Amino acid sequence: MPINIFSSSDETIKTLARFFIETAGKAIEERGVFNVSLSGGSSPKKLYELLAAEYGTAIDWSKVCFFFGDERYVPADHPDFNALMAKKALFDPLKIDAAQVFAVDTTLDPDSAASAYMEAMAAHFKTTPIRLDLSLLGLGDDAHTASLFPHTPVLAEKQATVKSVFLTDKNVYRITMTAPLINQSRQVAFLTFGPSKAAAVNRVLKGEKNIENYPAQLIDPEDGLVSWFLDESAASQLA
Ligand code: 6PG
Repeated sequence: MPINIFSSSDETIKTLARFFIETAGKAIEERGVFNVSLSGGSSPKKLYELLAAEYGTAIDWSKVCFFFGDERYVPADHPDFNALMAKKALFDPLKIDAAQVFAVDTTLDPDSAASAYMEAMAAHFKTTPIRLDLSLLGLGDDAHTASLFPHTPVLAEKQATVKSVFLTDKNVYRITMTAPLINQSRQVAFLTFGPSKAAAVNRVLKGEKNIENYPAQLIDPEDGLVSWFLDESAASQLA
């Protein structure tokens, strides 16, 4: 499992952008398409902006299909909507066709939104298993990833699917790919920086195996590679 540590978040993001483009280029060359799942939250925004600003001609972006590892159950025009952040940072600047973007339909009820998303993925991939070329993931201070939060029922889900999850402490629903679905990815890349993530990074990578407390430990593709892109502060507790 490659653990890449960089002096700053900017260096981390620059390297992950190159990794993204290399991975995309190989996928397009080998299979004619690059199916990538984007992460949400604040960390990846600069990555998406950098890809749009400096890599607009590096690959054939018309051959890229975008999915989301998770989505907040809010309206599509809500500032917390992950697909809206990606639209502003990446899709609009690169003039990505809406048909290439698979966003969660949060006009449906949570369970229907999750099942509709899974149906849309299945229709796109046609064959099973659904294998994303790259899943980008972040890491929360509590060691969650996507919307796989500590002590939630979705952690026990054995199906490679998409589920809704109610977060009682936040009183909100999320829609998330399950760990088995993410684990079907050819590659997974965690982008994690900042001192607030140091304890979670150490627990996930070096701590006891405890997926209820550290859900990101669930990410372990059967036939895929997980890479971490960390800055020194997020890696500061790693021995
Ligand atoms: C989300 C993300 C989530 C995120 C982590 C880290 O929808 O919020 O998918 O898993 O990656 O919470 O978020 P930050 O990058 O904002 O720290």
